[in-house]
Amino acid sequence: MDLHLKGKVALIAGGSSGIGLATAQQLAREGCWLFLCGRTQRTLVKAKTSILVNSPQCRIELFETDIYESEAAHLLIAQAFHCFGTVDILVNSTEGASFSPHAEIFSNKNWLEACEKKLLGYIRLTQCAFELMKKQRSGKIINVVGLTGKEPSTHLVMSGVINAGLINFIKGFSKTAAQYNVCISGVNPGFIATPRYNAFIHALAQASEHHDELIEKNLCEEIPLRRIGRAEEVAALITFLASNLADYITGTTIAVDGGLSQSI
Ligand SMILES: NC(=O)c1ccc[n+]([C@@H]2O[C@H](COP(=O)([O-])OP(=O)(O)OC[C@H]3O[C@@H](n4cnc5c(N)ncnc54)[C@H](OP(=O)(O)O)[C@@H]3O)[C@@H](O)[C@H]2O)c1
Repeated sequence: MDLHLKGKVALIAGGSSGIGLATAQQLAREGCWLFLCGRTQRTLVKAKTSILVNSPQCRIELFETDIYESEAAHLLIAQAFHCFGTVDILVNSTEGASFSPHAEIFSNKNWLEACEKKLLGYIRLTQCAFELMKKQRSGKIINVVGLTGKEPSTHLVMSGVINAGLINFIKGFSKTAAQYNVCISGVNPGFIATPRYNAFIHALAQASEHHDELIEKNLCEEIPLRRIGRAEEVAALITFLASNLADYITGTTIAVDGGLSQSI
């Protein structure tokens, strides 16, 4: 199936690890050019090297920044435009809110920090990319959100609140974006094997004094497909949403969770 992605420019915030990196790999295989952002130059360079193994023709530019700093979104979009002259696809896949193995009460400072990071970080970058895509009268924005936004979890309360806000933003903003032929959507991963997931399992294991393997085994028993997902399985949906085949999809957030969610 030809996804018609050849020559498209994809900016991936969080493209050096986990779901973002798997997305970068797939978009590169489809012929996209990549602009990858992360906070650590070494990890970005490692990601670029790994992508070039399978997609040696891919043009990849790297940008080291903390995208949750208030001015970073403008700089990132300006730099991507400077390098490629366009941004056709934006993928937001940066750090989620803190998790806690205990049902904690978070401080005011913690809450403000969480909002300032993933919630405002995704919104700011989306709005900056939209300003450019609006002039182009085309574009795809895909946000990696999280199942907790629809289904609250004791260990991920903060993450749930932030993700619920993003799902609402995606729907609300999609109507403005649609006037300019810009589509915005979200993906809701369940449990997906990435460094962030490993840290989450490890925190639960430490708190309960069990091994990581037992925590994962118990988790899998709650998932109808009985396993943790792979980053490539989320990336496959993002790649489809980025393509012309998804030109009539906007404002929606789709689960990739092995059947874990209860809501319809
Ligand atoms: N994995 C799951 O099970 C799961 C489930 C539901 C939702 N999600 C959501 O999916 C998204 C991606 O998660 P993941 O599991 O793929 O995480 P990951 O493997 O930790 O990757 C996160 C990526 O974002 C970059 N990053 C983090 N904070 C950044 C910042 N402030 N500025 C720029 N780059 C930043 C990281 O690079 P540096 O550290 O070098 O900056 C890395 O490339 C998160 O929003 C998470 O909440 C994940």
